[in-house]
Amino acid sequence: TEIRQKFIVGNWKMHTTSFEAQQLAKGIVDGLAAPDHVTVVLCPPFPYLPIVGDMLRGSRVALGAQNVYPETEGAFTGEVSPNMLLDLDCKYVIVGHSERRHKLGESEAFINRKVKCALDSGLDVILCVGETLEQRQGGRTEAVLDHQLSTGLDGVSSDMLSHLSVAYEPVWAIGNDEHHATPQQAHDTHVLIRRKLTQILGATWSEELSVHYGGSVEPGNAAAFLGQDGIDGVLIGGASLKADEFLAIVNAGI
Ligand code: G3P
Repeated sequence: TEIRQKFIVGNWKMHTTSFEAQQLAKGIVDGLAAPDHVTVVLCPPFPYLPIVGDMLRGSRVALGAQNVYPETEGAFTGEVSPNMLLDLDCKYVIVGHSERRHKLGESEAFINRKVKCALDSGLDVILCVGETLEQRQGGRTEAVLDHQLSTGLDGVSSDMLSHLSVAYEPVWAIGNDEHHATPQQAHDTHVLIRRKLTQILGATWSEELSVHYGGSVEPGNAAAFLGQDGIDGVLIGGASLKADEFLAIVNAGI
């Protein structure tokens, strides 16, 4: 039987000092026992990309960034280009994370520019989509995801799709102790996402594309999410900040 590639992505968000970042990366590299079909990616804050990158060199853990600006260079004070990320050995970039959509006010059009520019530059893009609690309770989950996917992927050429994956992160389940998505809820929404991807990209491409889940994944529930048909990987926030917890999740993916 075919072994599906599993993705485990640690999104450190705006956490760690440089020393903690280095120690965390070291702990993960030293403790990693996952086989080749598990892809492990660490996404530290921008300033720590070089330190973490040094730690990951020669290991099978890949480096990713949490954000990117959609221009190759220019007068964009405070921004970071795809080429800068590539220069630091980043292979992946997270685009459209809900915190950037909702706390930083990123628009669908801006996210779409990031997706295209990052792909054109040679980065692998993890495009995040997800509905808020209000949208879910208002019965708008499917419409919201449809919109985020069709605008996010607008104009992406099919020869780029092998460098793209989608992450479903319900906003109400991120870093939230009160609301957790069940593996079944995640599965059901992944079915909607896959259906929409088939509409946008056609069946062949849609089947190739990995779709991940993110939102309060931790050692105790990771296997249940990763065991769902159609969930190809997980994005970890809080639980990626401790090497032992992150490694327990990686091991659950085996
Ligand atoms: O990108 C991962 C993230 O948004 C999930 O965060 O803390 O709920 O695992 P957390």
